[in-house]
Amino acid sequence: MASVPSLASTVQQRLAEGLSAALPEAGAADPLLRRSDRADFQANGILALAKRFKGNPRELAAKVVDALPADDVLAEIEVSGPGFLNITVSDAAIVRTLAARAADARLGVPLNGAAGTTVIDYAQPNVAKEMHVGHLRSAVIGAAMVEILEFTGETVVRRHHIGDWGTQFGMLIQYLIEHPHELDHGSEGGEVSGEEAMSSLNRLYKASRALFDSDEEFKTRARARVVDLQAGDEETLALWQRFVDESKIYFYSVFDKLDMDVRDPDIVGESGYNDMLQETCRLLEESGVAVRSEGALCVFFDDVKGPDGNPVPLIVQKSDGGFGYAATDLSAIRDRVGSLKASTLLYVVDARQSLHFKMVFETARRAGWLNDDVKAVQLAFGTVLGKDGKPFKTREGETIRLVDLLDEAIDRASAVVREKAQDLTEEEIAERGTQVGIGAVKYADLSTSAARDYKFDLDQMVSLNGDTSVYIQYAYARIRSILRKAGEAKPAAHPELELAASERALGLHLDGFGETVAEAAAEYAPHKVAGYLYQLASLYTTFYSECPVLKADTPEQVESRLFLCELTARTLHQGMALLGIRTPERL
Ligand code: ARG
Repeated sequence: MASVPSLASTVQQRLAEGLSAALPEAGAADPLLRRSDRADFQANGILALAKRFKGNPRELAAKVVDALPADDVLAEIEVSGPGFLNITVSDAAIVRTLAARAADARLGVPLNGAAGTTVIDYAQPNVAKEMHVGHLRSAVIGAAMVEILEFTGETVVRRHHIGDWGTQFGMLIQYLIEHPHELDHGSEGGEVSGEEAMSSLNRLYKASRALFDSDEEFKTRARARVVDLQAGDEETLALWQRFVDESKIYFYSVFDKLDMDVRDPDIVGESGYNDMLQETCRLLEESGVAVRSEGALCVFFDDVKGPDGNPVPLIVQKSDGGFGYAATDLSAIRDRVGSLKASTLLYVVDARQSLHFKMVFETARRAGWLNDDVKAVQLAFGTVLGKDGKPFKTREGETIRLVDLLDEAIDRASAVVREKAQDLTEEEIAERGTQVGIGAVKYADLSTSAARDYKFDLDQMVSLNGDTSVYIQYAYARIRSILRKAGEAKPAAHPELELAASERALGLHLDGFGETVAEAAAEYAPHKVAGYLYQLASLYTTFYSECPVLKADTPEQVESRLFLCELTARTLHQGMALLGIRTPERL
């Protein structure tokens, strides 16, 4: 593993040195380097520095240029405008840097020197309930963050905080006791599909809810059952476990379809913290962080008030003694910091739960369970909207089943693949259709910043033009096909050759992969990786239309362009893998 400094960082460092030679009073000042259209880079920092030290910006800029040692990286520097620097690097420097990347399995991307342990809470559906598009977002964004963080060297612990506890289980279990065969499946011993599991859970949920709402005596029995469940009564727990197991069959079938790897030990749902709840409350009450108010154990905040101006507390324990969502989340924090030794807690959860997390984090800080060494962040995501811009529902106003949506995406993608397919068998079309369809759904979710709402538009998602995963997948497949056709010609870097403009643009973008990944990891922003990849595929398309590869003028030229092709393919592949999206070899 050899980490390769990017040209941007090399130039930045040279300029910083030049700057402190030209203006020692400024200390370690930032030249503020950016990619630029006029040259390769532009430094904008001199203006403000000159102002601060009462100098002439253009003169200072010229002094910086004089102070820069001549070398083979910087090909040209010119002072422009009121005191900017336009910097062009040499073709040879670009090719040499890319060659160093190509020689490394990690493409030269450095590991984060300050890596720690992140516990990431994502993909958390609820037991006995259908998964919806919100659960899709958490799963897709969370899985991408896992890959991105691990790639930078972070230790990642996954936690699927499923909703597997609560008063609704009293009703469900009681119904099952009174209708003992409702969760049985026809063929004894045969595998139950996720679809079958969910449909029997659904049936049971609806039937028990109807009874609960109409039959007072059943309601009473259901409430008594909650007490049994919380008291740990064995028969009751065994039935509860059946609901959890049945739901897991369904969850796994959906995660499987999503091509996502969810592992059993990482599923630690709300029930996993039951043993801690009592103590969590006791510690909060003893320390005075929480107080009794109308029988409930509450935490108050100066800045959280309801519309009537009265404070809205975080309720840790209800007046009937029951524990809620907050008690569980607070206990989970104690576990994740205390036992798992997390330095960061990351929650990939709907933005509509932001107030809950704000209050939970603040409470944990007051209690000392979170200190300055531990960061707690909600990666809050927006709502999924229908094509019409309204919350995503069927025409009848029902929530759309996630599985139906994924199947439709696969169907549409298969149609696109079939239309373009030249030498693919039916089986290959089906496989590629799945990879393209699921990729399209994931990419649509990941390509806008998570906080924003986004429109679920399947037509747009599987379009071959525009910012889609299919576009990127096709670019990748095209490169792989060129590499297969190259025959004897092998990719090789040639620093002695001059680069065409589109080769330079492609090369400089390839060189920036590591910086994009580092930013995406630091800001919990997978959309930065998506944006980078789309641009990479676009720059490749321009390069490919302007520069013949296999028919280039000289054998060296052919090798050099194959080298760019291959590094582009590897970078696309690695980047898409970070997003959890497959890159088929042929499309
Ligand atoms: N199960 C919850 C839901 O469906 C999400 C859980 C979020 N994680 C947490 N630690 N509270 O909305």
